[in-house]
Amino acid sequence: MNLSLQDNKKFLIFENSHILTKFLLKEFLEIGERAIKIGGIFNIALSGGRTPVEFYCRLSSVENSDLWRKTHIFWADERFVPFSSEDSNFRMIKSSLLDYIPIPKGNIHPVPTDEENVDIAAEEYKNNLMRHFVYQGGRLPRFDFILLGMGEDGHTASLFPEDPNIDNPHLVTLSVSLAHLKHARVSMTLALINNASYVGILILGAGKAEIARKIMDDRFSCPAAKVNPSHGRLIYFFDREAAAALSNREREYLQDGTISCRII
Ligand code: 6PG
Repeated sequence: MNLSLQDNKKFLIFENSHILTKFLLKEFLEIGERAIKIGGIFNIALSGGRTPVEFYCRLSSVENSDLWRKTHIFWADERFVPFSSEDSNFRMIKSSLLDYIPIPKGNIHPVPTDEENVDIAAEEYKNNLMRHFVYQGGRLPRFDFILLGMGEDGHTASLFPEDPNIDNPHLVTLSVSLAHLKHARVSMTLALINNASYVGILILGAGKAEIARKIMDDRFSCPAAKVNPSHGRLIYFFDREAAAALSNREREYLQDGTISCRII
């Protein structure tokens, strides 16, 4: 990755997840305020996994009812399981965030996992997205804020390295059925993610140090490394443990980002 030429990309390392979360919350609120000022609406997509839970819990204490009234929440990906399942991203985000904020029910747009099969769920989710964003003129939806995580194999959302469809520029959503996955899934595609105004990728913990090192190398290709909003900003958020294996040169560059930590 040619760090110096990527103006829309930033790499921030934080001492710990607490400081990182505080910074991310500030970003979220600023982006939301701006989006609402410009268009009267704030469209966001959130991910599952363990990493973002701390952020969702922190976000749940935001009592700004005007913000929540104008915020619409979608899911970057979901497992094809009932909402009541322990593996449901809807359930996780509901119990860490939605249960505590004054957001209208109609602003919550989960993946419809009650459809007959995962292909229909992906298609229906796409239709829901296109209907919601119809005011953008029927073009590919443009999210104001997308939060992603990253797996140790470099997957992000439910875009996995061995899936040939993740690069298809004509798809908005994808149904994902891979042998190693416990459940089939529905995911937003790279085309949709890369059309967003802002994408944050959260990479926390020692278990992510090796993949964090790899994605900084141009020669390494994986779904997370293909996230690159064409007209938006991309911020990688690392904690110190996840950034531990980055080389000196990268680390040197990354020190720039830690200036943000001092703001807090
Ligand atoms: C999911 C995801 C997925 C996740 C990564 C990282 O629903 O599982 O959206 O892409 O972000 O697998 O997961 P952890 O945060 O649990 O490490």
